[in-house]
Amino acid sequence: MSFFNKLFSATPSINIPFSAIATDMHSHLIPDIDDGSKSMEDTIAMLHEFAAMGYTTIITTPHIMGDAYRNTPEIILGGLALVRAEAQKYPAIAHLRLEAAAEYYFDSDFEHKLNNEKLLTLGDNYVLFELSYINEPEGVNKLVYDMQMKGYKPILAHPERYPYWHRNLDKYEELTERGVYLQVNANSLVGHYGPPMKAVAEKLIEKNIIRFIGSDCHKYEHLAVTKRINSTKHLEILVNSSLLLNNSL
Ligand SMILES: [Fe+2]
Repeated sequence: MSFFNKLFSATPSINIPFSAIATDMHSHLIPDIDDGSKSMEDTIAMLHEFAAMGYTTIITTPHIMGDAYRNTPEIILGGLALVRAEAQKYPAIAHLRLEAAAEYYFDSDFEHKLNNEKLLTLGDNYVLFELSYINEPEGVNKLVYDMQMKGYKPILAHPERYPYWHRNLDKYEELTERGVYLQVNANSLVGHYGPPMKAVAEKLIEKNIIRFIGSDCHKYEHLAVTKRINSTKHLEILVNSSLLLNNSL
C-alpha cells in the first residue's frame, strides 16, 4: 500500500456491544435517597436507556455516607421493591434483573457498620466502597484487611478519581495484590471527569488490573455520555482481556 493510501484508508472502527458488559454494578437509581435519581419517573427513564443499550442486569448502589446519606439496608431494599414494581409496568424494561447494594464511603461510620452490621453486597459477597476525592485517607489497608476478615471482597469504586494516587500508580497494584477489585467508571473512558482521570483509567486497563466497569449513573444525561464508550480502544481492551467480572454478579 502506498503512503498515500495508508494515510487515507479507513481504520476499522470499534463498536463494542454493551451486551459484552450486560451487568451494570454501580449507579444511583433509587429515587430520592441520595444525589442520584430525583424521582421514580427519572429512574424509569434511565432504566429504559440501560435496556435500549443492551444491559440486562442493573445492580444499583445508593450512597451510604456518614451524615450526608444515612441510608440503611431497609431504606435501600424498600426503594428497590418500589422500583421493581414500577418497572414491571413497562414492557421495554420488565425483563431487566434489578438488584441493589450500596456504595459505602470510607469513614468512621463505615468502620462501625463493618464491625456491627451485615453489609449490603453484590454477587458473591462483594462490597463496593469509595474514598475521599480530596485527601488520601489513612488506614485503607487496614480497612481492606478488616473487610476480608469478615468474609467480604472489597471493590474500590472509580480508582481513577483519586488524584492523590495519580502519580503513584504502584498504589493501585498494591491494592490489587491485597485482594482489592478495582472498578473503573465507564464515563472516564471518554474523559467525562477530566483528562487526568481518563489517562489513569486507561493506564489501569493497560495494567490489566480493572475487574469491573460501572456506569456510576446519577441522572439521565449521564447515559448519553456512557453510550459513547463503545467506540473506545480501552473498552475494547478491557472486554477482550477476559478480566471483567461484571457478569459473575
Ligand atoms: Fe457512585
